[in-house]
Amino acid sequence: MKLFAAVSACAASLTLCGANTIVLARNPSPEVFAAEALAGPLTALKRALPNSPSGGYAPKPVDCPANRPTIRKASSLSPNETSWLELRRNYTLDPMTSWLSRMNISGFDATSYMNGIRNNVSAVPNIGLAVSGGGYRALMNGAGFLAAADNRTNNATNTGQIGGLLQAATYVAGLSGGGWLVGSIYTNNFSSVQDLRDGSKGSSVWQFGNSIFEGPASDGIQILSTASYFSTIQDEVSTKEDAGYNTSITDYWGRALSYQLVNATNGGPSYTFSSIALEPNFQSGSIPMPFLVSDGRTPGTTIVSLNSTVYEFNPFELGSWDPTTYGFAPLQYVGSNFSGGVVPSDGSCVEGFDQAGFVMGTSSTLFNQFLLQINTTAIPQTLKNIFTDLLNDLGEDNNDIAQWQPNPFLGYNNATNRNFDSQQLTLVDGGEDGQNIPLYPLIQPQRHVDVIFAVDSSADTTYNWPNGTSLVATYQRSLNNTIENGTAFPSIPDQNTFVNLGLNNRPTFFGCNSSNITGPAPLIVYLPNAPYITLSNVSTFDPEYNDTQRDAIIRNGYEVATLGNGTLDAQWPACMACAALSRSFDRTGMKVPDQCTQCFERYCWNGTTDATPVAGNYTPAFKVGAVSLGGAAGLGVRVGMVGVVAFAVGMLLL
Ligand SMILES: *[C@@H]1O[C@H](CO)[C@@H](O)[C@H](O)[C@H]1NC(C)=O
Ligand SMILES: *[C@@H]1O[C@H](CO)[C@@H](O)[C@H](O)[C@H]1NC(C)=O
Ligand SMILES: *[C@@H]1O[C@H](CO)[C@@H](O)[C@H](O)[C@H]1NC(C)=O
Ligand SMILES: *[C@@H]1O[C@H](CO)[C@@H](O)[C@H](O)[C@H]1NC(C)=O
Ligand SMILES: *[C@@H]1O[C@H](CO)[C@@H](O)[C@H](O)[C@H]1NC(C)=O
Ligand SMILES: *[C@@H]1O[C@H](CO)[C@@H](O)[C@H](O)[C@H]1NC(C)=O
Ligand SMILES: *[C@@H]1O[C@H](CO)[C@@H](O)[C@H](O)[C@H]1NC(C)=O
Ligand SMILES: *[C@@H]1O[C@H](CO)[C@@H](O)[C@H](O)[C@H]1NC(C)=O
Ligand SMILES: *[C@@H]1O[C@H](CO)[C@@H](O)[C@H](O)[C@H]1NC(C)=O
Ligand SMILES: *[C@@H]1O[C@H](CO)[C@@H](O)[C@H](O)[C@H]1NC(C)=O
Ligand SMILES: *[C@@H]1O[C@H](CO)[C@@H](O)[C@H](O)[C@H]1NC(C)=O
Ligand SMILES: *[C@@H]1O[C@H](CO)[C@@H](O)[C@H](O)[C@H]1NC(C)=O
Repeated sequence: MKLFAAVSACAASLTLCGANTIVLARNPSPEVFAAEALAGPLTALKRALPNSPSGGYAPKPVDCPANRPTIRKASSLSPNETSWLELRRNYTLDPMTSWLSRMNISGFDATSYMNGIRNNVSAVPNIGLAVSGGGYRALMNGAGFLAAADNRTNNATNTGQIGGLLQAATYVAGLSGGGWLVGSIYTNNFSSVQDLRDGSKGSSVWQFGNSIFEGPASDGIQILSTASYFSTIQDEVSTKEDAGYNTSITDYWGRALSYQLVNATNGGPSYTFSSIALEPNFQSGSIPMPFLVSDGRTPGTTIVSLNSTVYEFNPFELGSWDPTTYGFAPLQYVGSNFSGGVVPSDGSCVEGFDQAGFVMGTSSTLFNQFLLQINTTAIPQTLKNIFTDLLNDLGEDNNDIAQWQPNPFLGYNNATNRNFDSQQLTLVDGGEDGQNIPLYPLIQPQRHVDVIFAVDSSADTTYNWPNGTSLVATYQRSLNNTIENGTAFPSIPDQNTFVNLGLNNRPTFFGCNSSNITGPAPLIVYLPNAPYITLSNVSTFDPEYNDTQRDAIIRNGYEVATLGNGTLDAQWPACMACAALSRSFDRTGMKVPDQCTQCFERYCWNGTTDATPVAGNYTPAFKVGAVSLGGAAGLGVRVGMVGVVAFAVGMLLL
């Protein structure tokens, strides 16, 4: 199948594409070579690893390791995660002590409390962060939260700020648009939001003004016209097909997305998600573990519901804790011919299937719909026709899926696995079951997470604000004995209550009283998207944002996280720290400081409901005040990165 044959023809013949088009496709010009040669060593040093054995987008057979890869039961954490946690939990002690001290709970000595428990890891707070889906809106709003939580952001460790929470966290989960954020940070070697936002010369990273239809601007390292951008994507996807793998629209989508998210030539076609586990800062335990979430679609159905099997990606594994699949595959070897939980002696081992952009695309297949908007864009008709052919080829039922074939869980757990008999594992957007906040990996009892800071940028209401629907979904799922498999969750009120009581308009804590839950469950610090300084409720399907709008929404997310830099409640940082410490206080028997008691009175949902139907559309007022989108709305000083290399590359291009 050569779906993009016409693009290749275009790339091969200048006249076909118009004289103005710069066409540089398969045979890069000397300039591109020079730029890549310069960028290469840096890339190898600084990014997640471009370690696909094919050197490109396609997976490739490799020699099986001495211990052939197997699927393991989901009855415990993986040995990899267990040994990583020994490093990470220890590594969080100092950042957590410093963060708790800065949050300044009155009458509480954070340093002596932490010193008292540092040799007893199970007493130490175990912190998870979760960033919801919702396209670019979720990426940007979630980015504002992560920037506020990151001690590397300018001013984030000043009084009234919450920087350092990220450094104290054990886990960071993202889904769909939130997965683009988490994926972008981790494939770029745990870059800060500030650095990704400010970008660097010649990089198209986070340049959302150039939509995925156009591709990156034609300057710097990535010299691409729209036509050559499409033909490069087509060539890459066909290498996977030529290697014998089925491809789906998600391959194209993931590739296009990567140009914006992965700071490497052509969006880093050979970068794998499992390579995050090989980065020194991850291996040493100095950064949190990332998760991405997807839903499984049962063969022969197109319905994804709350009882669908949920899958998590982490740097070590892909799998599910649900009683259905109840197994995990080593991510590095997904693509191998697993059968019955092993790669049989006549089966080959494969690496490179877990391409980073493909994983991010898998968590966000809902946005395959972006590609359906292609007719409304200005790109050449030839390209539109090709996409239309592609879509027709796939058939409507499969427009929004990611095909993971071979299915690693083939013949595994036949009694309960819904895909045991299927050659392909069909994965879809992690928010399609209604659980748009990726809480799933964080509420697994094996992980013992104490508190989840959950950023919700869902578009539940008519005007794209959240109304608690995602928390309601996770709560409902936790009540279904056939699917919950040991995951307890705090009780959550209905959406009318959320809106009537304003629980979707300010931070709210759920599950403050750990004894009022059916099992061990984290405290949820719910951080809903709301208008602090700009209307951050942009449409989920808007594919294009200029830098001013992007920066304003990131800034708004920062204000969500800090309650308007503390202007709405000067005690907010202390209250966040109280939430982080709550379960630890339960375990150590520590008397809850008075300021924490006051915080809990203010922020904990106390069980009150008001299910009166909400009349009219929910239109929240500005909480701080609108900023002008005419001026700069940055987090700090914007840095124009013109390093020696960028300069040298620029010279070569002249
Ligand atoms: C995970 O653990 C296995 C078994 O100990 C080991 O062979 C493998 O290298 C580990 N993977 C990573 C990415 O550390
Ligand atoms: C714990 O971390 C500290 C530095 O934060 C390090 O010096 C120490 O060796 C670590 N201990 C273990 C057991 O890893
Ligand atoms: C951020 O926290 C990490 C971990 O504690 C520390 O090593 C680093 O120096 C801090 N950076 C800043 C800018 O404070
Ligand atoms: C992008 O990659 C280049 C080359 O490796 C590097 O110099 C630059 O700092 C990176 N930019 C960002 C925002 O990470
Ligand atoms: C609970 O989950 C099972 C299996 O996943 C499903 O068949 C059942 O309908 C669900 N029950 C409710 C009340 O949703
Ligand atoms: C999920 O639950 C619904 C009812 O809530 C049921 O109709 C459906 O069959 C269930 N699906 C599976 C795969 O169990
Ligand atoms: C989870 O599901 C598996 C597989 O069905 C089962 O063996 C296990 O006991 C369940 N765990 C809990 C805590 O219910
Ligand atoms: C684009 O427009 C053409 C002709 O108007 C139509 O046949 C095609 O289905 C459209 N493509 C998509 C993806 O909607
Ligand atoms: C599980 O199902 C596979 C595929 O249908 C089959 O080949 C295998 O024999 C079954 N295994 C068991 C233990 O029943
Ligand atoms: C909340 O959002 C859900 C999902 O979009 C919607 O069906 C419901 O009407 C909303 N309710 C309120 C009160 O906003
Ligand atoms: C305590 O649990 C009950 C259900 O068991 C629930 O109705 C109530 O709202 C919970 N209270 C709080 C504060 O969560
Ligand atoms: C950073 O903090 C300094 C000192 O408090 C202040 O003058 C400056 O305006 C702050 N910058 C930003 C971008 O908030």
